[in-house]
Amino acid sequence: MSAAYEVGGSVAVITLNNPPVNGLGLATRTAAVDGIRQALADDAVTAIVITGAGKAFSGGADIKEFNSPKALTEPTLHTLINVVESSTKPVIAAIHSVCMGGGLELALGCNYRIASPGAQMALPEVKLGILPGAGGTQRLPRVLGLEMALNMIVSGTPVASEKLAGTTLFDEVTAPGADLRAAAVAFAGKVADVRPLPRVRDRQVDYPNHEAFLQFSRNTVKAMSGPFPAPLLCVEAVAASVTKKFDDGLKFERELFMQLVQSAESKALRHAFFAERVAGKVPDVPADTPVRAIASAAVVGAGTMGAGIAMNFANAGIPVTLLETKQEALDKGLATIRKNYESTVKKGKLTQEKAEQCIALVNGTLSYADIAQADIVVEAVFEDMDVKQAVFQQLDEVMKPGAILASNTSTLDLDKIAGFTRRPQDVIGLHFFSPANVMKLLEIVRGKQTGKDVLASALALSKKLRKTGVVSGVCDGFIGNRMIEQYSRQAGFLLEEGCLPEQVDRAMEQFGFAMGPFRMGDLAGNDIGWAIRKRRYVEKPDVTYSKTADLLCELGRFGQKTGAGWYDYKPGERNALASEQVNAMIVQHSQDIGVARRTVSDREIVERLVYALVNEGARILEEGIALRASDIDMVYLTGYGFPLFRGGPMFYADTVGLPNVLDAIEGYAKGRHGEAWTPAPLLVRLAGEGRGFNS
Ligand code: 3HC
Ligand code: NAI
Repeated sequence: MSAAYEVGGSVAVITLNNPPVNGLGLATRTAAVDGIRQALADDAVTAIVITGAGKAFSGGADIKEFNSPKALTEPTLHTLINVVESSTKPVIAAIHSVCMGGGLELALGCNYRIASPGAQMALPEVKLGILPGAGGTQRLPRVLGLEMALNMIVSGTPVASEKLAGTTLFDEVTAPGADLRAAAVAFAGKVADVRPLPRVRDRQVDYPNHEAFLQFSRNTVKAMSGPFPAPLLCVEAVAASVTKKFDDGLKFERELFMQLVQSAESKALRHAFFAERVAGKVPDVPADTPVRAIASAAVVGAGTMGAGIAMNFANAGIPVTLLETKQEALDKGLATIRKNYESTVKKGKLTQEKAEQCIALVNGTLSYADIAQADIVVEAVFEDMDVKQAVFQQLDEVMKPGAILASNTSTLDLDKIAGFTRRPQDVIGLHFFSPANVMKLLEIVRGKQTGKDVLASALALSKKLRKTGVVSGVCDGFIGNRMIEQYSRQAGFLLEEGCLPEQVDRAMEQFGFAMGPFRMGDLAGNDIGWAIRKRRYVEKPDVTYSKTADLLCELGRFGQKTGAGWYDYKPGERNALASEQVNAMIVQHSQDIGVARRTVSDREIVERLVYALVNEGARILEEGIALRASDIDMVYLTGYGFPLFRGGPMFYADTVGLPNVLDAIEGYAKGRHGEAWTPAPLLVRLAGEGRGFNS
């Protein structure tokens, strides 16, 4: 059942019922149209109420149907709204909780709207790279005015119903706690005989000197929308609500909608929307798996990561104790936390009061006895197995039974770490990204023996901390860092072959990365990669690397923290300035290893860096380290600045076409360091089958 039909007295009530958010899929649309027709045919019915079951009026068109034949199968959303709007009996929308996209467009097609307070009203289509395509751009300005409607449509931001009380959008906003359905039925009784039926389409949008306002909006929106075409087309569609007749405006909106729905940017955004939601689902850990309560936390190590991790708990209202070995290090960590909160207050992003509340939730200690009762402890000490061993053995001794023992290690073997304890089922990896209080990504590393309840608890915690939790199996570097290593290796080889850091960074930034690999290295600290490579030279002597990054580190150029890295930095500034010393070192190194430098195209730079990610991603997928391709995409979108409009590396490879990606990889395999380009078997197989990673 996707919509219920009931008649009480002379009012028919159609209740949309398509959990979780009453998306207007084909079955729901059909049931709603049937309901209206049944009510029109029933002489005893004088008015019709449309409402939603469960936790929404409606979240809008069913996004899963986009680009599928179902979206265009009758009755379409347009037909449903037409049927409602041309009803000869008044139709009243009874709105609660969520009224978004096509849901709001359906409500705008009704003759009257009545809402509970707190209902989230939005046309959020722009966030999916499209625009409201079922009349929203034409009808919303007719009830809210040009300016307010334009803001809502271009931003997609929800507005609470009570804030819109008194506008023509609502005929009534009920009192808090009132019975919405009863109020809507009572309202229906009052308006049953009123004729003509009020219709939003019959209203005019009045805005003096609208052309000047629209031109200003175009300029502002264009400057802010980057590579995304939707925001500007939203302005154009809204403009049509003033400049065109209603039906012409509707037609124009439709044309723009169809254009956007086919666009690569919208496909990428919709992919990311579903990827984010599916990432929290693990096939063998059902949604009803019991979770452990996390009401208190501890963090071991108050360095770069520990301080940021502690802030996450405090921001979520969870008291947290930081443990260090020395008072000086502890004081430094606590001071960093205070400084971070103060600067957020200064930027106006947090109130002083909230900052003080958070700071008060953070305590420091040098004694394990003080953290023994915490529900979860996150270890963030040096990346050294011996240090991790000492810490986990200590945690095993002191932590209360049932406490979750998490490690923030970026590369070390979590199973080995779990083996330092007598409770490996309680051990899990929680790999935060730097700066830990800002970055959205949380890699949740599932060890061989990690308990399902511990994994479910970590996934629930990631939501509470407002992170995107992505589950990874155990391997060196997990999903993100294992892939970035291949990317960095290619960046190094490019320097040997003819590039300078600024060319590589520019090409990657033009592709859409927030930061190219060398600017990123300078930000994160080049010494981190150096330490990892030194370990690899011993553990995996066959893997080749360019020596340029080692030479850089030997010069003490660790990046911004030492005032010099791949680039020069003026004291106190973050602007990356090309370094004569580094560039000369790079050219000299090519000469020393006998490589004739050549001109490398930007296309080659992008292909080599991105396809290196894709090829390693394919191995990660095949080995089951990642559960699905979209999880890899989420890791790269939320943790590594991969351009959102390209949907993540695996999705991007799908859009390029896997046979094309494979062709390029096979070409590079014939070149210098061809050993780095052995195509992943999964890539070869999927390319041969004409499939994609995400299909
Ligand atoms: N269609 C299909 N499924 C939807 C959906 C939609 N419009 N909106 C949400 N869902 C699903 C999610 O995929 C998720 O499914 P899951 O439980 O299987 O993982 C479930 O609903 C719950 O979603 P959230 O986890 O996001 O739950 P929240 O309570 O945090 O948020 C929400 C609910 C505010 C409705 C949020 O999901 C949201 O913003 N959804 C998108 C709404 C939207 O963009 N609507 C416009 C659609 S396009 C349109 O209408 C085109 C028209 O103009 C022609
Ligand atoms: P850091 O060097 O800034 O901080 C480590 C802190 O741990 C220091 O304050 C040190 O005094 C403390 N410490 C060392 N031994 C200890 C012990 N036995 N008991 C208590 N405290 C101890 O290091 P950083 O960068 O914070 O890294 C910590 C962990 O996080 C490492 O495992 C690292 O791989 C991981 N990580 C680091 C990221 C980064 O970008 N820096 C990103 C993601 C993970």
